Amino acid sequence: MSKFQDARDQFPLLKVHVNGSQLVYLDNAATTQKPLAVLDASRHYYETINANIHRGTHYLARAATEAYELARQNIASHFGVSDPAELIFTSGCTDSINLAAHCLASRLHPGDEILISTLEHHSNIVPWQMACQRSRAVLKIIPCNECGELDQNAFQQMLSERVKIVALTWISNAFGTVNPVKEMTRAAHEHGAVVMIDAAQAVPHRGVSLADIDCDLFAFSGHKIYAPTGIGALWGKRELLESLPPYRGGGEMIKEVTFDHTTFNDLPFKYEAGTPNIEGAIALAAAFDFVDALGMDEIHRHETSLMRAAEERLTAIEGMRLFGPADRCGALSFAIENIHAYDLGTILDQMGVAVRTGHHCCQPLMKRFGISGTTRASFALYNTPEEIERFGDCVARAARMLR
Ligand code: ALA
Repeated sequence: MSKFQDARDQFPLLKVHVNGSQLVYLDNAATTQKPLAVLDASRHYYETINANIHRGTHYLARAATEAYELARQNIASHFGVSDPAELIFTSGCTDSINLAAHCLASRLHPGDEILISTLEHHSNIVPWQMACQRSRAVLKIIPCNECGELDQNAFQQMLSERVKIVALTWISNAFGTVNPVKEMTRAAHEHGAVVMIDAAQAVPHRGVSLADIDCDLFAFSGHKIYAPTGIGALWGKRELLESLPPYRGGGEMIKEVTFDHTTFNDLPFKYEAGTPNIEGAIALAAAFDFVDALGMDEIHRHETSLMRAAEERLTAIEGMRLFGPADRCGALSFAIENIHAYDLGTILDQMGVAVRTGHHCCQPLMKRFGISGTTRASFALYNTPEEIERFGDCVARAARMLR
């Protein structure tokens, strides 16, 4: 049995039937299914060591604290980070970006600029709009070309000493475009900007060395990489995180509180007010162990071959338009002439194939392309060549029915 078939067998939900057909789950950019190792880690936590952390002297409190901090260390090492205190647990990528935007806004002045791109998810647009409202900074948008690639010349021209923050998606959730984040980070740094990477769609598909990218802040979600919902992280360079104000107030983030004055805790606790998602952090570390055992490079190769096969099947269908560049990763967005994405998605669902339809939380990107939405298939390590065949057959059949 192949390594990936063996891995697939670890995901109980993939065995279900939908509308009488074996499920083909191709909505992985929205969320992924969970392997037994992750489900077991959650259950084991509640069955054996559930307690609040960093607060108690009893056995369970110590065991839960140790497991939570070990999870932080293991996740940090997945990214080549030697200082685990730089990894702050959040409820997910959206929460991480809101933390970054809120704290960075305190340093902005009227007329400062924040650069984001046309490819951004709403969660990497709205928090920066809110930061601009608070600070009277100006939001500027890096344009993209007809392929859905960022215009690098325009980006270079937009950079200036006024740009204080560049917040960029690494991989577009809508089109699968892979942005050259390392080169863009270097260019932004030459102008003194802080760079935040939204890596929600990159972390599940490729190995990451944060030292190599050299960004200042890096946000991701657990549920896109086989972990539960409600857990994610913001990694940041220690010096930057230490220089920023706290985000949420509450227990754990303080050193000392009086009614007159509060002093704040060290990293990472300064940014983890309240009881965190302890089980989620432990399960997230289990998810990283799971993908690391398979190897991120191998996962990337496997998913790339599925993507190429899916592109080949779709381009054979009359009236097909694929969005995004040829080297897209993770997400394959498409439209068929005279067929509404919602109708196509509904018929695919009747055939047991799960895809996402609509604007994918990227309304400005859809507007740029003059469309209301697309149909999107998105891939994970457990998808198989046979599923891609079935997906291709089902799209072709649905297109014939809808014409
Ligand atoms: N951001 C997720 C998606 O692209 C929800 O589907």
